[in-house]
Amino acid sequence: MEKDKQIFDIIAREDARQHMGMELIASENFVSHQVLEAMGSCLTNKYAEGYPGKRYYGGCQVVDEAETIAIERVKKLFGAAWANVQPHSGAQANMAVFMACLKPGDKFMGLNLSQGGHLSHGSPVNFSGLVFDAVEYNVDPETGLVDYDKMEETALRERPRLIIGGASAYSREWDYARMRAIADRVGAIFMVDMAHPAGLIAAGLLDNPLKYAHIVTSTTHKTLRGPRGGIILMGEDFDNPWGKTTPKGQLKTMSALLDSAVFPGTQGGPLENVIAAKAVAFGEALQPSFKTYQQQVLVNARALAKALKDKGYKIVSGGTDNHCVLLDLRENFPELTGKQAERALVEADITANKNMVPYDTRSPFQTSGIRLGTPAITTRGADVIMMTVVADFIDEVLRNVDNHEAIASVREQVNAMMAPMPIFAD
Ligand SMILES: Cc1ncc(COP(=O)(O)O)c(C=O)c1O
Repeated sequence: MEKDKQIFDIIAREDARQHMGMELIASENFVSHQVLEAMGSCLTNKYAEGYPGKRYYGGCQVVDEAETIAIERVKKLFGAAWANVQPHSGAQANMAVFMACLKPGDKFMGLNLSQGGHLSHGSPVNFSGLVFDAVEYNVDPETGLVDYDKMEETALRERPRLIIGGASAYSREWDYARMRAIADRVGAIFMVDMAHPAGLIAAGLLDNPLKYAHIVTSTTHKTLRGPRGGIILMGEDFDNPWGKTTPKGQLKTMSALLDSAVFPGTQGGPLENVIAAKAVAFGEALQPSFKTYQQQVLVNARALAKALKDKGYKIVSGGTDNHCVLLDLRENFPELTGKQAERALVEADITANKNMVPYDTRSPFQTSGIRLGTPAITTRGADVIMMTVVADFIDEVLRNVDNHEAIASVREQVNAMMAPMPIFAD
C-alpha cells in the first residue's frame, strides 16, 4: 500500500514545528525515542480487556508481561502499594476515582477552576460537575496560595465525600498533611491529582502525596515525560474495605473498586502499546539521570520566574516551587488579554498558553494570564542562562504584540537557538 503522503507530510511539518520552536507549555514534554517506539509498536493490535492473568481475550500472555512490568515499576517509582496503569488519560483516571468513591449527586471539593483547578475537578461542562455536586476551595487573593483555613471552613460546612488536591496551574507546593487532616475531620476520601508535578515527585524533589492521600491520580505525559495517559495509585494502608458491597454482599476493597471503575466502568480495552511505553518511561524515571533532569526543570523555572520578575512582571504567588510559572498580565499590560499574548508568542514560535489568573475578570477564552513551564525546554538541554534570554524574548513579544516585524525578529532568534538543540538526547 502506498504511504499516506497527506498525513505523513503533516507529521513532518509538526516535527519541524516542535524542533524549531520554543516549547513552554507547562503540561508538555518530549518523550525519548524508545517511548515513541513502544507506542508505535505491534502492541497496538492486541485486545486485552481485563487485567494481567484475568483477560476476556486469548493471546494476552505477552502483553500481560508488559503491563505487569509497568505496574511494578510505577509502584517502585512512587512508593505505591497498588497501581492501575490502564486509564487512557488523566481525566479518565479521575473519572474512575469518582465512579469508585461517589454516587451521582454526591458532593466533592476541588480547587476553583479559574484559580488553577482542572476541568475534571468540577467544571460544569465536565462529567465531574455534571454528575456530581462540586464545591470549590480558593486561593488567597493577596498571596495566590491555597487558603487552607477557608478550605477547612467550607469542608466543615459542606461535608464533601471527596476532597481533591492538585491542579493544572498552581506553582506552589501543597500542604497534603493539612488536607488529609481536613478530609479526616469530615470523613472524606482525600485524592491528589499530581498530573503536573509527578516527575518532580518521582525524583524526590517535591513532597510525595502517596504518604497522605487515600488515592493519587496522574497523567504520564507532563513532567513525568512518558506517553499520553493516566495512572491511579494507592499508598500502603488505604486498601481497606470501604463499606461498599458487591451484589453478593461481600465487602470490596478500594483497589477492586478502582480496577472495576476503570474497566469495565469507564473504559473498554486498554492501550497495551501505550502501557508498554508507560513502562519504558517509568524505567527511565527510575534512573539517576532523571533526577538530574528534574533538578534542572526546577532551577530553570525559578530562573525564568526571577528573570521575568526582574523585568517588572507580576508572577502569581510571587514565584514557583515547581515547573510552572503563571504570569499575571493585568498590572503591566491591562489592555492585553492572555489570548492576544498567546497569539503573539506563537507568532514568534514560542508556545505557551493563555490561562486564567486568580480572581480574573476575563472569561476563560480571553483570560489575563499566561502559563509557562520548563519541562519540555529542559529536555532539550536548556539551562538557567537560556532562561534569561527566554524572558527577554517573551518581554519583547509582549511589548510588541501588533508589531509583526519585531515579532519576526524574535522568531528568527528563537529558531536559531532551538535548531541545534536535540529533541532526542538518545
Ligand atoms: C491536574 C490535571 N489533571 C488531569 C488532567 C487531564 O489529563 P488528560 O488531558 O490526559 O485527560 C490535566 C491536564 O492538563 C491536569 O492538568
